[in-house]
Amino acid sequence: LGLCGPLGCSCNEAPFPSDAELELLRELQFSPTPPPDSTNRHADDAAAAALGDMLFGDASFSSCGTISCASCHPPPLYALTVATRPGCRGTPGRNAPSLTTVAFRRWLYWDGRKDTLWSHPILPLTRATEMDGDVQNAVTTLQSRYGAEYLAVFGSMPASDPDPQRVLSNFGKAIAAYLRTLPQAVATFDSRLSELISAAEQDIAAGGGENHVRALPDYLGFKVFVRKGRCIACHKGPQLSDQLFHNLGIKEPDAPDRGRAEGIEELMKDPFNGGGVYSDDPDTGRIKLDRIPTDLPDEGAEGAFKTGSLRNVALTPPYMHNGTLMTLDDVIDFYDRGGDPSGFLGMRAATIIPLKLSADEKAALKTLLQTLDAQ
Ligand code: HEC
Ligand code: HEC
Repeated sequence: LGLCGPLGCSCNEAPFPSDAELELLRELQFSPTPPPDSTNRHADDAAAAALGDMLFGDASFSSCGTISCASCHPPPLYALTVATRPGCRGTPGRNAPSLTTVAFRRWLYWDGRKDTLWSHPILPLTRATEMDGDVQNAVTTLQSRYGAEYLAVFGSMPASDPDPQRVLSNFGKAIAAYLRTLPQAVATFDSRLSELISAAEQDIAAGGGENHVRALPDYLGFKVFVRKGRCIACHKGPQLSDQLFHNLGIKEPDAPDRGRAEGIEELMKDPFNGGGVYSDDPDTGRIKLDRIPTDLPDEGAEGAFKTGSLRNVALTPPYMHNGTLMTLDDVIDFYDRGGDPSGFLGMRAATIIPLKLSADEKAALKTLLQTLDAQ
């Protein structure tokens, strides 16, 4: 360790990447297809996706007649460049995430109160701050505008289903099928990552050092992301998210938000969760619910939020669950100072400590994050 080649690394530091770091880098590699979802038997059904595409843009499901899913998640990024916007009655309290890679996410909402993609749309459909729709109007609208398509996918007409809640779950299953078809684009990040991995393999084959990796444009950015910045402790895997929840100690402008703690309470009593009667594979759905306590971070669920995916991150400001960080520079400064000193609930994650990044390191990290744009 610490033996340096002629192009050098500072001699008190092990060459980057170490074997363990190289393994983490390999796990970041792009994956084009979302994981299967057996709780939705129509997840990969093209007719369901075509129906979902129409439902996603239809404002007649809202009480005010002007709000659809696309109002707050407009293509091509399925995101707004402000935290959120008003729905029919009031405004949702959190930052609306981009939906381009939503089918890869294990939990939905910043607090993970939804465990499946198909059960998600039911909440914005019926909640006052989004579409404020009611069940009866949803059934009538599906019947009159989409009866034939609905029948072809689900085998009966919406109005003839004795259980209107099942019609809502089918509304969600069609939209989920649509969201699963959003195309996944390779980013510059992915080709730079492949180059870094093969350069690291060449360095290892040559007996160590950094001769090959050091020559690459994003060498410093990757190094800060993995080593000094510890970003990869949580931003790991193909979505650059561990799909878990952490408390970063983000200041809340309004009342403290309990995050995952409240999300778990809502999820467990949700009749549409993956273990419930509307799930097409409740056994698998229940396994996921049962694992929740083991997946909690050391600091607990209070004030913890989902690790955001970093794909397209530069294109989708503002940042964090409450949208209080406006730019990537703000985010990097936030981590660099070790989170906010006050204003958070519960305990901050142990990995959120002052990083003491130099100006070059911050700039390199920002440039790396910008290579994740894929639109
Ligand atoms: C008035 C704005 C608004 C409308 C309308 C709206 N959303 Fe959202 N959406 C949001 C906000 C804000 C969040 C984040 C909420 C949270 O985490 O508490 C969100 C989150 C989501 C998420 C979770 C993403 C993630 O990674 O956690 C999905 C999926 C989603 N919306 C789909 C939909 C669908 C489908 C519809 C239509 C049925 C819809 N939204 C309507 C604002 C809106
Ligand atoms: C302890 C785990 C952890 C570490 C370490 C970590 N993050 Fe995060 N990151 C998260 C969580 C959790 C969120 C969402 C937090 C919230 O909204 O309350 C997040 C959010 C973000 C966001 C905003 C995503 C969005 O769409 O709003 C960016 C950008 C980001 N992190 C970059 C980084 C960078 C760069 C580093 C390294 C300097 C880093 N993170 C280190 C867990 C972590």
